[in-house]
Amino acid sequence: INKEKKMSSPLTVALLGGGTVGAAVAQLISESSDDLTARIGGELKLTGIAVRDASKPRPGVDSSLLTEDAAGLAASGADIVIEVIGGIEPAKTLIESAIANGSSIVTANKALLAAHGAHLHKLAEEAGVDLYYEAAVAGAIPLLRPLRESLAGDKVTKILGIVNGTTNFILSKMYNDGADYSVVLKEAQDLGYAEADPTADVEGFDSAAKAAILAGLAFHTNVTADDVYREGMTKVTADDIAAAKSLGYVIKLLAIAELTQDDKGVIVRVHPAMIPVTHPLASVRDAFNAVFVEADAAGQVMFYGRGAGGAPTASSVVGDVVAAARHRITGSVGPAQSIYADLEVRPIGEAITSYYLNLKVADESGVLAAISNEFAKHDVSIQAVRQDGEGDAASLIIRTHQAPESRLRATVEGLENMKAVREVLGVMRVEGAGA
Ligand code: NAP
Ligand code: HSE
Repeated sequence: INKEKKMSSPLTVALLGGGTVGAAVAQLISESSDDLTARIGGELKLTGIAVRDASKPRPGVDSSLLTEDAAGLAASGADIVIEVIGGIEPAKTLIESAIANGSSIVTANKALLAAHGAHLHKLAEEAGVDLYYEAAVAGAIPLLRPLRESLAGDKVTKILGIVNGTTNFILSKMYNDGADYSVVLKEAQDLGYAEADPTADVEGFDSAAKAAILAGLAFHTNVTADDVYREGMTKVTADDIAAAKSLGYVIKLLAIAELTQDDKGVIVRVHPAMIPVTHPLASVRDAFNAVFVEADAAGQVMFYGRGAGGAPTASSVVGDVVAAARHRITGSVGPAQSIYADLEVRPIGEAITSYYLNLKVADESGVLAAISNEFAKHDVSIQAVRQDGEGDAASLIIRTHQAPESRLRATVEGLENMKAVREVLGVMRVEGAGA
């Protein structure tokens, strides 16, 4: 009965935001209208597009749909409200109001989901509406639905992802050109890859929000951006990259979420790391994103594609709109948030990592023994050492086996206080290289 009713009247869609993503969403919905109707089993009707300034020219967008009354449009009781304004407010209040008026929600807003996901999920569940956000992590890449649905029968143990296109573009350029961060950042800004204020990307805030969302879905636990250990990539130098390259590694800004060894906790972290050039994530270059998932039964699975841009992001948004629209027609909703496992979020000190260290040391007898003794004192096993002489000093490159991060940090602190160690030139975590 419900289906017949809906098929005779279009499903209404209100779009909040008409910028990079919003304009592309409006275009995709209007260009694919007939196909979408066939796939959904009912027609979609865009009822309005809320923007800050309706007088701004927006090529390809039907200007008669523009409104500056976002609150009114959000509360209009549309079947589906799409939020692509971004940020916490007014997006949060608008979504709350839309849910209260019975609308299903599709959003691309990682910052909001990573801060208030549990609250919004609760509201959506109580109201019996959908809350979808495939575009919030890794733009066009179908990733959240596979994690939520396709891998729901498996046990995910680790996620390793390049989820920020801006920083991947910068690090790829630094690797190829041997240039320093500031030079490449300027180039990335000129090309439109990096924002005028790049802080959210280069300091890892954007990746941390995405890591929190991924961790929540993979480990059935509420994880917020504040739970994520975060280090940006602004301190990575051309020398670090050259040293990594000479050893067969690339440096990537990684978002990592993993189960602890006792299966009772999760650790979520964002930081630059060296990965072997042979690792599948090493060949993810420029502004592309990729997420590598390890699960008990599936083994290793990788998702790859465009993580940003109007049209790629609109693909995920409109995919969510189709899912929500199908549910409206059948009078159903998709799965609610699954946070039953309620795992403890553990500190970075418990993460099991290996390190690369580049030390400038005195080239004297007993120095190597003293240095290896410092590693032994903290129960950190050395995997490989390379020494090159430079006058009365030597450069020492050390790769460790995996150990808890707290022990590795204590080792580095000990080394920094040793007389024979003249300078700690570089310290970086190594991922994807085995134990
Ligand atoms: P954007 O280009 O800055 O667009 C934001 C839109 O929201 C603009 O149309 C703006 O209006 C409107 N807006 C801002 N404040 C408003 C308010 N108070 N009331 C009504 N409208 C308001 O941003 P975007 O790049 O499309 O990003 C939108 C969302 O998608 C964000 O959550 C972002 O994280 C996410 N996302 C973006 C990408 C990407 O590649 N861009 C990829 C994945 C996810 P005006 O046009 O009048 O200024
Ligand atoms: N600033 C983000 C990036 C956009 O560079 O990947 C997509 O979230």
